[in-house]
Amino acid sequence: MQKLAIQGGARLNGEVRISGAKNAALPIMCASLLSADDLYLSNLPDMHDVATMEKLLQQMGVRISTVARGATFNAGQVDKLEAPYDMVKTMRAAILVLGPLLARFGEARVSLPGGCAIGSRPVDLHIKGLQAMGAEIHIEHGYIHATAKRLKGARISFDLVSVTGTENLMMAAALADGVTTLENAAREPEVVDLANCLIAMGAKISGVGSDTITIQGVSSLHGAQYRVMPDRIESGTFLVAAAATGGKITLSEARADILENVLDKLREAGASIVVSDSHITLEMLRRPKAVNVRTAPYPAFPTDMQAQFMALNTIAEGSSVVVETIFENRFMHVQELRRLGAQIEVEGNTAIIKGCAQLEGATIMATDLRASACLVIAGLVAQGETIVDRIYHLDRGYEHIEAKLSALGAQIRRLK
Ligand code: UD1
Repeated sequence: MQKLAIQGGARLNGEVRISGAKNAALPIMCASLLSADDLYLSNLPDMHDVATMEKLLQQMGVRISTVARGATFNAGQVDKLEAPYDMVKTMRAAILVLGPLLARFGEARVSLPGGCAIGSRPVDLHIKGLQAMGAEIHIEHGYIHATAKRLKGARISFDLVSVTGTENLMMAAALADGVTTLENAAREPEVVDLANCLIAMGAKISGVGSDTITIQGVSSLHGAQYRVMPDRIESGTFLVAAAATGGKITLSEARADILENVLDKLREAGASIVVSDSHITLEMLRRPKAVNVRTAPYPAFPTDMQAQFMALNTIAEGSSVVVETIFENRFMHVQELRRLGAQIEVEGNTAIIKGCAQLEGATIMATDLRASACLVIAGLVAQGETIVDRIYHLDRGYEHIEAKLSALGAQIRRLK
């Protein structure tokens, strides 16, 4: 199993290009299933989840030709309407083939995702929404088996805000008969990016970015060219790493307009931030101040940045409270941070962190994608060497993270 060895203490300095967003790329790749024409996507990030999604689509019969940072997807000859267990278990976003397959081919068989490290994460809202659109759904042998002659437009109100739930139903509704209204829909920028790609393919969608999305179904979608948006979580991760190490970095090809909450928290921690066009520069000239964080659906503070801010708070001046409201078990990094000397108490969904002057390097284990990023940040500031084990989680969702950090001056290397 691969590990990262980090020698703590180096300040990050320099410029780093932000990659295409994982959480936009994955649903947009699934949108290729909605048309028989070519969908050309640029700015696809080079990471395991994108490769897994390509493999899944190829197994279904989608032809993919890759060029640098992009690929053309053609679903003109799809012959297998299935996402098997071994794919879904490694990447939950595979559930996103359910809506498109059902809408275009009238049938889909998708493995139910199991629980995962950060919580139980059911997909009941995806299923209920498709049923409201007329799908027959049976759960058999661990698989969701869905059929529908043609989905019908419906008014669907989500009990909880669900990002992939909104995306699955939006894709299904694009080819349904009639109008679908999604209420209490997710407003995440990645949902907007998917909608913009669908619109480029001929879908009729309005209200994206608000909590009510209206989709007028059409009989077919056509090919398109689309550029995947920059990754706001990768952006936030590098900014927190720079703030924690007292460095100065510039992100290029980034978007500040979708990072406002994160930038505000970094300013509160004492960083100075300058935004111009697609660049964000952060400079931290002092020890960070502790900042309270409460996760909630967009536009509030993202759960995918909670662990990284926890790492920052461990070495900050003062105490902070971090409340996680989206996932019930997203504090797996706390035990590992404690092994580096962090002082954190957890009660239910609340963590109280008392900032300490210095963490000390140790061997620690990554448990999920964003927890891994948090441990890397902690390793960058800890005294001595930190070994982060099980970094396959990190490779799922960050493009060449150790190469990017090395270029910024971090002492980090991969142990094979
Ligand atoms: C997406 C992101 C993930 C991010 C999360 C929350 C992708 C590929 N992943 O995950 O990085 O952390 O949004 O911003 O975009 N829920 C149900 N029933 C459902 C669906 C969700 O109870 O049918 C619950 C979940 O367990 C969770 C909450 O709703 O507590 C939000 O989950 P959701 O927004 O669906 O997360 P994902 O789309 O899986």
